[in-house]
Amino acid sequence: MRTTWLLSFFYLPLFLFAQGVQITNGPYIQQVGENEATIVWTTNNDAVSWLELAPAGNDSFYASERAKYYDTSHGNRVIGKLHRITVKGLSPGTEYRYRIFSKEVTGYAGHQVLFGTIASSNVFRNKPLSFTTLDKNKNTFSFRVVNDIHGKNDNLRAMLHDVTKKNTDLVIFNGDMISTLNDEKEIFTGFMDTAVELFAKEIPIYYTRGNHETRGRANTRLYDYFPSNNGHFYYTFRQGPAFFLVIDSGEDKPDSDIEYSELAQFDNYRDQQKEWIETVIATPEFQSAPFRIVIMHIPPTGTTWHGSQDITLKFIPLLNNANIDIMLCGHTHEYQYIDKGEAPNLRFPVLINDDETYLDIAVDSRIEIKQKDMEGKTLHSHIIKK
Ligand SMILES: [Fe+2]
Repeated sequence: MRTTWLLSFFYLPLFLFAQGVQITNGPYIQQVGENEATIVWTTNNDAVSWLELAPAGNDSFYASERAKYYDTSHGNRVIGKLHRITVKGLSPGTEYRYRIFSKEVTGYAGHQVLFGTIASSNVFRNKPLSFTTLDKNKNTFSFRVVNDIHGKNDNLRAMLHDVTKKNTDLVIFNGDMISTLNDEKEIFTGFMDTAVELFAKEIPIYYTRGNHETRGRANTRLYDYFPSNNGHFYYTFRQGPAFFLVIDSGEDKPDSDIEYSELAQFDNYRDQQKEWIETVIATPEFQSAPFRIVIMHIPPTGTTWHGSQDITLKFIPLLNNANIDIMLCGHTHEYQYIDKGEAPNLRFPVLINDDETYLDIAVDSRIEIKQKDMEGKTLHSHIIKK
């Protein structure tokens, strides 16, 4: 009996002893602007991380020592399992190669930190990963929008499997990518592992929060995984001729609804955003852009629920006077295009995308929107002219 036990012990796979630190999810690109980008990934064990950045080029990543960037908080490098490194001082419309590293922290001996193994992305057998910064002077670009995926990875794969750096500058996740966020791991099992496998290592995702992502025990951690350029789920960015205004429409029912367990404060949150929208639409950056695109999960029409009504009351009067070219929404799981002038309270077109279709959008001297099904067949087309 004892011999059998001893033998089985010695036959245990070696990797159980030598596993060390591993990159478990990611990396993926966030918060890309003209001058900055953030790379996010996770590890199985606590680690300190860094990122090496190199200009685009045909030389080896090993040609010279590359610039290093760290995840720091109040002066210290961060130890943890979630790693987010922001690189600033980049040039617009420029491609950069990157490599990520995580060095395991195994414990402490008095004041001394004890380190274990190092995990990194591969630049020897694989090409280094790369991303390109945004550029307001770019004449033309393309982007995709999906929404209401609700953890259906197969749908996400069908709609984004052919995304490449050549055909897509950025991807927008317009809310309800998951139904409830009870554990941070569900961000990856629900949709991000698929996104990383398909494109997110090299093509940025801009996240719009849906009402479902405000729910669940881990909902307050969502922002840690999708940081924006201003610390909020509502933010702006500019690519080529388009200025993007991303709004967080919050929850759909009244804050007092029994489903929210007295925790919801979305009416106040939308008041706060109303003030922010007022300041954004007054800026020269917003007003001088050739196109202004609003991204918001809950539409201001097509439903009479409280969230939609509060949006209509607080945001729409401002946006009606802001020369919006198109608003892209989701939430209802039903495609609808409300053209300018069709709804009495809307002075701009609103496109509500279905949960099983995606938007393939090209912007140049006009905005060309194609709504496509999971086989890639175009169902509806819209052209927005200046
Ligand atoms: Fe929704």
